[in-house]
Amino acid sequence: MSSAEARASGDGAERAATAPATKPLWVQELNRNLQKHKRDPTSKYMQLATATADGDVSCRWVVFRGFLEALSGEHEFEPHHMLKMITDLRSTKCTEIASNRRAEVCVYFRDTREQLRFKGVLKLIDKSETDAQWARARTVQWKQISDGARQAFFGPHPGLPIHGFEGADADDGGDGDAQRGDSAQHDGGTQDKAEGGVEKKQDLETPADDFCLLVLQPYRVDHLFLKGQPQRRFVHVRNTGFDASIRASDAAAAVEVPRQVDTVAPTEWIVEQVIA
Ligand SMILES: Cc1cc2nc3c(=O)[nH]c(=O)nc-3n(C[C@H](O)[C@H](O)[C@H](O)COP(=O)(O)O)c2cc1C
Repeated sequence: MSSAEARASGDGAERAATAPATKPLWVQELNRNLQKHKRDPTSKYMQLATATADGDVSCRWVVFRGFLEALSGEHEFEPHHMLKMITDLRSTKCTEIASNRRAEVCVYFRDTREQLRFKGVLKLIDKSETDAQWARARTVQWKQISDGARQAFFGPHPGLPIHGFEGADADDGGDGDAQRGDSAQHDGGTQDKAEGGVEKKQDLETPADDFCLLVLQPYRVDHLFLKGQPQRRFVHVRNTGFDASIRASDAAAAVEVPRQVDTVAPTEWIVEQVIA
């Protein structure tokens, strides 16, 4: 029985201490839940909450794309166990992230009745990325998504008003794209037609300019088990060394990172059981 399974079955935190050093316990816990729910595509939906520099907040669903493969060499982030997402550079969240990289991701697993919340720092990897390894991670991610998902990045600017839209009952002939076509900001992407009305073929091999790989480096994971009485809750926290490095490099340094005991190695996590 793995330590994650032991905890799910209600075994004590002592077993947690014996978790293999290579994978933080929260990674095992997330993997265990994903494995249990592998037939349910919605188990990969996560809520991503961000905040603007002036404190406004936003939350939206995103799809969890797995963990980032290891990078070698010196990097601002510890490139292990980072949660991957993808997004469009033109979306509002990217503007928010540019001014405040702090975020929380939340996921709930229906069958096990477990909630995991990941507080961390985001890195947005767009076409201007200069580090070869991060840039490669973006290209690799592009290759891993479907043609349909790629196509979306060539569409009109997300979030802009659609002129002529008259509300939910407006008749678009059963095709939402009719509305999209009305957008004054239609950027001509995939929907563009060459002269003669023939659709231009979009190059789906090369990442779209607005395609971004978004990664979250968690520094605090809050894991709640709703099943059982009493409910159980564990908080996993990375040590101060990591937090300090993030704080030093973060443009939005005004936001304080909670301080933790600094007696463990930089890559280690402290796990504590708290009242649920
Ligand atoms: C189930 C579901 C999955 C979604 N996955 C993503 C995703 O992976 N990336 C993304 O940028 N938006 C995704 N969206 C759309 C976002 O929730 C959001 O509407 C969009 O990104 C614009 O958000 P923003 O204006 O806060 O930037 C998803 C929406 C739903 C309902």
